[in-house]
Amino acid sequence: MNTFYTILVFIHIFSAILGMGPGFVLSMIPKSAQTMTELRHAYKIKHHLHILVMIGGTLLLITGLLMGMIHPYLFRMGWYLVSLFLFFVALAMGPFVLKPLSIPVKETVNHHQGEEIPKEYTRLSKRLGIYENVENFLFLIIIALMILKPF
Ligand code: HEM
Repeated sequence: MNTFYTILVFIHIFSAILGMGPGFVLSMIPKSAQTMTELRHAYKIKHHLHILVMIGGTLLLITGLLMGMIHPYLFRMGWYLVSLFLFFVALAMGPFVLKPLSIPVKETVNHHQGEEIPKEYTRLSKRLGIYENVENFLFLIIIALMILKPF
């Protein structure tokens, strides 16, 4: 059981790096685009990296819960419960907050004619960016809780 737990920790930490690492830079990718062509390319890269984030995030949750099943005392630890709660909040933000805000952004990116990036895009993407930062902040708190296990 101990070896299995160690394997889970290994997968958990790898998933954190490979999944969360790209997650933190997602919102920066389209920022340097100067033209609509560059912007469309940036969104393609963002889309591919997001797949890594989803795989990493799913593995983090599965391995985290399995570790809890092996050591049930974890479900009495504050850091574990708060992380789990924050993780679900971050997960729910995807479909309920980020998705609705990203639909008009992607609409503009896909359908705008010409090379100049419209002001409307800048306005919409700034609004989306605020919530992406909130999501990143939640993940930073979870990482701090994971490392420090303060309570
Ligand atoms: C953003 C999501 C997460 C990230 C980036 C993350 C990252 C990490 C990292 C880097 C560690 C190693 C810390 C150390 O041992 O010093 C760790 C440990 C751990 N994580 Fe997570 N984690 C996340 C989500 C979760 C969730 C949702 C759960 C619970 C369901 C969980 C359960 C655990 C447990 C039990 C450990 C302790 C392993 C041990 O040392 O025995 N993690 N996590």
